Parts: sequence; C-alpha cells; structure tokens
Amino acid sequence: MYQTVSTFDVNKIRNEFPILQQVVNGKPLTYLDNAATSQKPRDVLEVLSRYYQEDNANVHRGIHELSRRATVAYESARERVAEWLGASDRAEIVWTRGTTEAINLVAATWGMDQLTEGDEVLLTIMEHHSNIVPWQLVAKRTGAKLRYIELDAEGKLILDDLDQLLTDRTKLVAMTHVSNALGTVNPVQRVIEAAHAKGALVLLDGAQAVPHMNVDVSALGADFYAFSSHKMCGPTGAGVLWGRKEILEEMSPYQGGGEMIGFVGRDESTWADLPHKFEAGTPNIAGAVGAAAAVDFMEKVGYDGIQEHEAGLLRYALDRMGELKDLTVYGPKTLGERSGVISFALGDAHPHDIATILDSEGVAIRAGHHCAQLVMKHLGVAATTRASFSMYNTTDDVDRLFEGLRVVQGIFGR
Ligand code: ALA
Repeated sequence: MYQTVSTFDVNKIRNEFPILQQVVNGKPLTYLDNAATSQKPRDVLEVLSRYYQEDNANVHRGIHELSRRATVAYESARERVAEWLGASDRAEIVWTRGTTEAINLVAATWGMDQLTEGDEVLLTIMEHHSNIVPWQLVAKRTGAKLRYIELDAEGKLILDDLDQLLTDRTKLVAMTHVSNALGTVNPVQRVIEAAHAKGALVLLDGAQAVPHMNVDVSALGADFYAFSSHKMCGPTGAGVLWGRKEILEEMSPYQGGGEMIGFVGRDESTWADLPHKFEAGTPNIAGAVGAAAAVDFMEKVGYDGIQEHEAGLLRYALDRMGELKDLTVYGPKTLGERSGVISFALGDAHPHDIATILDSEGVAIRAGHHCAQLVMKHLGVAATTRASFSMYNTTDDVDRLFEGLRVVQGIFGR
C-alpha cells in the first residue's frame, strides 16, 4: 500500500498525466471538464497495459495459470476497493459499468421487488438523470410515487420540511452526495438519519464525491453507495455498487448468465453467493484492476492534499471570475458547501458558443444541461457553462479560463 505524500506538489502530479502535456488548437491544453471524466495517471495506464500484456484471461473459469492470475488480480481489486471505501466485507462490492449501472441495478432488483402501489421514493431535483430515470421506470411498473426535495436559490437542498417529505410510505431516499451541475456538497448524514428514523433506505450517488473526498461507507451509514472509476483517475466502464450485505443478500439477481449461478436446471436455477450473484457474464476485469490502481493513486496523492488544493483553486477561480462583468455563478455561496465545479452564465452568450471559443483557446469545459434538466429548470435556463477541477489543475489553468472568457466577451462586444 502507498504512503500518502506529505506535501502536495501539483507540478509533480501533473507530470504523472501524459495527456496533459499536449497542445490543442495550437495552445497548451487546459483540461477543466473533470466532472465529465478525469484524466489517467501513468500508474493506472501501466497497470492496464501490464494486465493485458501479462495476465489477461477470463476469471473464475479456467484451470490454468493466466486464469488464476487474472482471478487474483480481479478479486484483489475488489478487496482493495472494499478496504478503501470502508466496506465491512469484500462481498459488498459489486463491479458495474459505472454509477448509472449501479443505480439501475438497485432499481431493477430491490426496487421491483420491494416497491408496491403507493410506496414513495424520495429524490432531489439536483439528481443526475441516472438517479431519476431508473426510478421513473420502476415507478411506472410498480405504481410507486416519486417525490422530490426542492432547491433554494443558491442550489442547496431545502431540508426544513424533510420530516413531512418522509412519510410512512417512503421506502427509499436516492440522492447525490455532490451535485455534478452545481457542485453542492449535500448534508447526506442528516438525510440518512431522518430516512432511517422513518424506516427508509438510502442510496447515495457518489460519482462526484469520491474524486474529491475520502468516503467511508460504514461511517456514513447509508445502505447503497454508487460511483464510477473514470471520474477518479481510473478507466471508463468500471464502477461500483456498494450495498449492505444483508440487503444485497435479499435482492434478486440483476442480469442472468454465466458466473451468477449456483446450479442451472431446465426450468429453474440457483444463484451464486455475493457478490457474483450480480456479476453475470465476463466482467470488465481490466477495468476493475485499473480502478484499484486509481484508488492506490488517489491515496498516494492523499485526500487531504487534494481537498486543500482544490479548495484553493475554487477560491482563486471564483475571485478571478468575479472580475468579469455580467457573470452569474450558480451554486452555494459558501465555499465549504461546494466542490470544484463552477456552473455559470456569461451575459447572454450561449454556453455552446462559450465552450467553442474556449476550445479554440485550448481550454476544455462542458456546456449543456449536464444530464440534470431539473436543475436547469430550477435555474430557469436551458444550459450552463461548467468548469470543473481536479487535483492536477493549477492557477495557470484558472488564468487560461479567465483569459478565454475575456476573449468570449470581446467577440460578443462587451
Ligand atoms: N455526469 C457527467 C457530467 O456531469 C457526464 O458531465
């Protein structure tokens, strides 16, 4: 296991990311689209390449050396993630394609088994579509109702009426830990306690949390936690559903196929033990191995340093951008209540125009609804422009963003 480096050295960290050392549209790349996906450090790239060059085989199947090695690599990766996430048992870690599949798994199994007509699932209007649509699909089929926690003007959850929103029919609260569209860090502990007091389970979407903060699922006390590896320096196509073992045990399988069975008869089958019951077919073995390498990398850099650095960047960026006329920044005003995401509008410039001009300056950001159309409706806009930070961004990147926005203003005649 890695030791945390005591001093956070952003230049050293940047050097670990080969992709950042390039020129885009004639300018050095400034990558500020980290909430969409993060870049990958050399450690992760090397682990992926080594796995394919030396150990690649199918897992849990072959009685040969490579299959044994691939199985050890895959299961050790699970063990590593379990330990890092504070899971009490490695069987609580289910590999998925990502956060979206993890939530769909819970909706299609627990949701379809447990929800009946009139039951309620409490969401927030801050959710990514991947934590809304799966519940709409289940609600249609079961007759369950969806209710929503609303947002205040700053983009924070209104929790004053939480006790009324949680009723005797609430079976689940499904909410994001950190908003991808606004950067709001939610007081999840408070919601978990209130939900549990009413007998409801809690699922947290941790996709935008794990890249930036240390998450311990045992300490949080939720029932399900979902995240993707690709937003925290790992490969795409690999994610995790953590669930409390006793709940996972009771759940029906998700997909049928190889690996997830105990015994198959003509009309009926039995299921494999956890976590394999939920992992039908050949899994993304390299993805799991790469995800564990990403965990090693995050811990090597150290979350304390990451948090401090990203908070500093956010402060600097908000100060610099504050110099721009006609700028509206969405999301909480208090720095401690937001992560490194800045969603904004610049006068009446269209977000896609802003993104295109910034791209020509070598600055990559995202424009659009960010898969959070309910948030856009709340803000009264169709789209926003979003800059999102990672551990490898620098104040230089912020300056490049600022200069790019000045170019936008020049083009739009302000
Ligand atoms: N969920 C990702 C984002 O916010 C794709 O950009």
